[in-house]
Amino acid sequence: MRTVYVNGEYLPEDQAKVSIFDRGFLMADGVYEVTSVLGGKLVDFDGHVMRLQRSLSELDLAAPISMEELLAVHRELVAVNGIDEGMVYLQITRGAPADRDFVFPDPEVTPSTIVLFTQNKPGLAASPAAKKGMKVISIEDQRWGRRDIKTVQLLYPSMGKMMAKAAGADDAWMVEDGHVTEGTSNNAYIVKGNTIITRHLGTEILHGITRAAVLRFAKEAQMKVEERLFTIEEAKAADEAFITSATTFVMPVVEIDGAKIGSGAVGSVATRLREIYLEESRKAAI
Ligand code: PDD
Repeated sequence: MRTVYVNGEYLPEDQAKVSIFDRGFLMADGVYEVTSVLGGKLVDFDGHVMRLQRSLSELDLAAPISMEELLAVHRELVAVNGIDEGMVYLQITRGAPADRDFVFPDPEVTPSTIVLFTQNKPGLAASPAAKKGMKVISIEDQRWGRRDIKTVQLLYPSMGKMMAKAAGADDAWMVEDGHVTEGTSNNAYIVKGNTIITRHLGTEILHGITRAAVLRFAKEAQMKVEERLFTIEEAKAADEAFITSATTFVMPVVEIDGAKIGSGAVGSVATRLREIYLEESRKAAI
């Protein structure tokens, strides 16, 4: 049985409990991070912690433990659960006040809740999906306006995955005012010639930690990067497409709304970026 972490304690997963009054449960008042594990080590931990701090401060949420302690908890969970490849999920919510109330509770009275658990995913890096590529559909982006904050409000992304599944696809790219924002749980890219195109940062998308690393590696490999708006039509006419996230790394996209991208096979740029990303991430993991 898995060992998880709840508010300072390491417990078997069936003994870990959070109050029914927790604002994460009642109001989706919480933030999260997902850090991947490769070779038993944490990938880009500093990036995830920096984004966590930003998410917390944007919502005026207090961190219940220090960032150094957070690293120790991540490492302990990876060790006790014997994770070689997988991920660590972290969630911090605005705690459990005495009653349901829209007004934020006083943090002196109501401490925030912190939960961490691991997910074991053997074979994550060698995923066969990366050889096959994914099919995506486009859907309207109906999320709230502060997608740069990594909140636990994941109902619309879940609905998007269900819409994709119903259409026989693997995921959905969301579109707002005619332009692609991002995937339901990943950042979206297209490739034309030697140029990688992805939406610029702003409040409309999550600032992916994998995105930052991949764009850096692409530039180092002399590829051109354009951070700008693009449409589904432009994506359909691209040579390649792919997504990035902590759990998929770089994953090729071979079909959008039933139209093949390029030849319909996994592209060389996405394949190369996946290799570079995995190699560099293994080297830098802590
Ligand atoms: N999702 N955009 C959205 C909407 C996301 O939910 C995620 C991550 C990303 C990629 O961010 P990063 O590269 O930092 O993982 C982009 C995580 C993996 C999840 O919800 O499981």
